[in-house]
Amino acid sequence: MAGASRHDAWQAGDSYEIYMGRWSRQIAPRFIEWLEPDDDLDWLEVGCGTGALSARILSDTNPKSLISVDPSEGFLEKARSTIADPRVEFQIGDGEALSIPSGTRDIVVSGLVLNFIPDREKALQEMQRAARSKATIAFYVWDYPGGGVEFMRAFWTAATALDPSARDLTEDRRFPFCTLEGLADLAHRAGLSHVETTKIEAPTRFQNFDDFWHPFTLGAGPAPGYCVNLKTAEREKLREKLQESLPTAEDGSIPLRVRAWAIRGRKQ
Ligand SMILES: C[S@@+](CC[C@H](N)C(=O)[O-])C[C@H]1O[C@@H](n2cnc3c(N)ncnc32)[C@H](O)[C@@H]1O
Repeated sequence: MAGASRHDAWQAGDSYEIYMGRWSRQIAPRFIEWLEPDDDLDWLEVGCGTGALSARILSDTNPKSLISVDPSEGFLEKARSTIADPRVEFQIGDGEALSIPSGTRDIVVSGLVLNFIPDREKALQEMQRAARSKATIAFYVWDYPGGGVEFMRAFWTAATALDPSARDLTEDRRFPFCTLEGLADLAHRAGLSHVETTKIEAPTRFQNFDDFWHPFTLGAGPAPGYCVNLKTAEREKLREKLQESLPTAEDGSIPLRVRAWAIRGRKQ
């Protein structure tokens, strides 16, 4: 699997929520605001995870229907248990081979997923195949190469200082295409027209060091997956190194930020 890591552990919904879901939930409404979608559309979401974007599609856009697809049964279970809405159907599935009939969806979206799909161009083609003519296809990913997920960058900076072999696991090395130019280029190659991009930023304030550290010990996602696989003494060294290096406010909180790039285009 190109660019994949054995640490891409996407199963436990509760752990994902604590590590990433709480921040991805801040990006989803801003993405929808930018899309300005009409009411009454048939939506498709690829890689819905625990439902951060699904929930916002349902609350903010008045959809006719929403099909939300993800390969992780654990994440879908979490999404189903927290979102009870007759308009949404959560389905197990893979972005490279969607089992959605062709030409049936008005808008297809995906949040923080495309970099984890080995053949991204194929995934974008699948999204277009499922869509009706002139449908909007839109997605967002973190600005990994620009260090846009500051809590993740801080983790890997400390981890690679102690263990240089971890360098190849870092998202900026694995996903160098996650720049505005790289993403627009991918969208064009996949055949989308009217391609537009934007930046979405949000604060991620951790209450204290434990609030920052605890999610990395839960194992959901690449950096937590790496963290839980360390021996106890190595993990303790990493914890200490991080604690020394993070910016801390007077009240003990750790004020960081995240930045995503959003892309939208049209099926020709
Ligand atoms: C960072 S999470 C994003 C989840 C959610 N969209 C959010 O914003 O919180 C990445 C998601 O991509 C999913 N994923 C990984 N490989 C995939 C594939 N081939 N097709 C579709 N989704 C995939 C994972 O199961 C996981 O739910």
